[in-house]
Amino acid sequence: MRLVTLATPDDFDAWRDQARALASDDVPPDDIVWQVGSHGGDLFAAGATPRHDAVGTPLKVPRGFIDLARNAILHRDPERFALLYTLLIRLRRETGLIEDHADPLVRRLEGLAKHVRRDIHKMRAFVRFREVADDSEGGGESRYVAWFEPDHHIVRANAAFFVNRFASMRWSILTPEVSLHWDGAALSEGPGATKADAPDGDPIEEVWKTYYASIFNPARVKVGAMLKEMPRKYWKNMPETALVPGLLARAQARESGMIEKARTAPGGNSEIAWDALREEALGCTRCHLYRPATQTVFGEGPVSAAIMFVGEQPGDQEDLAGRPFVGPAGQVFDRALGEAGIDRAQTYVTNAVKHFKFEPRGKRRIHAKPDAGEIEACRWWIEQEQMLVRPKVTVALGATAARSLFGKAMTISRERGRALALPDGGGEAWITVHPSYLLRLPDEAARTAEYAHFVADLKLAKAAAA
Ligand code: URA
Repeated sequence: MRLVTLATPDDFDAWRDQARALASDDVPPDDIVWQVGSHGGDLFAAGATPRHDAVGTPLKVPRGFIDLARNAILHRDPERFALLYTLLIRLRRETGLIEDHADPLVRRLEGLAKHVRRDIHKMRAFVRFREVADDSEGGGESRYVAWFEPDHHIVRANAAFFVNRFASMRWSILTPEVSLHWDGAALSEGPGATKADAPDGDPIEEVWKTYYASIFNPARVKVGAMLKEMPRKYWKNMPETALVPGLLARAQARESGMIEKARTAPGGNSEIAWDALREEALGCTRCHLYRPATQTVFGEGPVSAAIMFVGEQPGDQEDLAGRPFVGPAGQVFDRALGEAGIDRAQTYVTNAVKHFKFEPRGKRRIHAKPDAGEIEACRWWIEQEQMLVRPKVTVALGATAARSLFGKAMTISRERGRALALPDGGGEAWITVHPSYLLRLPDEAARTAEYAHFVADLKLAKAAAA
């Protein structure tokens, strides 16, 4: 039995070096016990042979394995090191195994990696800083301190994100396992902390409050949905949740003035709010579609756009690129926009459903239509995009988009070509076909005619937005 000790629970490089050496010695997975830190009096201590000479042994593994392992290793499951090592050993014999998503071991590790990615996104979305006076360098400067309780060992892996986003601030993020401190130039690490170590005063992030108030629409409050999107676990550390009772109480009065104020306030609050919204959407688990998809494909475009286009859901290429309408349907869409005289860069483009729904067929992923439940689950996002962008005109591209925007099935042939009113004062909408409908038409003449009709619809929307 070999005992392998890793210094920290998230040290991928150390695991990789050890695994590489063990694999080149052909050590079977069952002969290894993996542990983290120093466990005095360990059951296997007498026979243990920790390796420190492992670096540099070549072992070829597919890129997909490394990506999977880097995430899965951050999971709190104590079996993760052994599971990854077992997969590593099997990969030497079973080429293509990493692509076999039906294999129980691959599936299990993909599940771990997915939980980790979600936890990473949650941390990015839910960390809230509070300002404290910081005299550590004598200048009486402010430091921003946040408390966060992750589910997995993701804090170090997330450090670069916070450094980039808050580069000019001095901040600390305290968590039970480790603390991160940024002084504006260098990142340092400290021991874990408790919630009592973090300041409990007023949150400084007015922008969060402004954001929350700006997207708050009492007509649409669904407490269940709010809980799902922002798990109660995180509420206690988030300033905006303190606003909820007040917002509900004064709902009617604030509906008109507040949102407008937030949108038009100096400093581009809508942009920051949109950023935060997108960040939250990246970790969305409101329906099951996030599981097989690569990532959330959120809307893109200026929040000041006068026209918002809403498609159905990302396709295969959008799912990989993380951007809407970049695949074949996107090319048709771009061409038609050009012919209608619309500059895509001046519009906001999004989808009713933010994850790619597909059926695997061999190595291909075949588009599958989202059902009513999936469309309903995703309406949360489109409603918030609507409230932030406030386009003069919203164009539904196809039946799924129309259903999402109107909350019920709409018949395209009956509704197209005229302005419609969105529910709850959501503004003016136009309905037209989806660009992929044009791609599917088998007959050349019909395709030409339908394409011209599509361009004509876009021109109508453009005129309405002018
Ligand atoms: N189809 C859509 O509805 N949206 C996309 O982003 C791509 C294809």
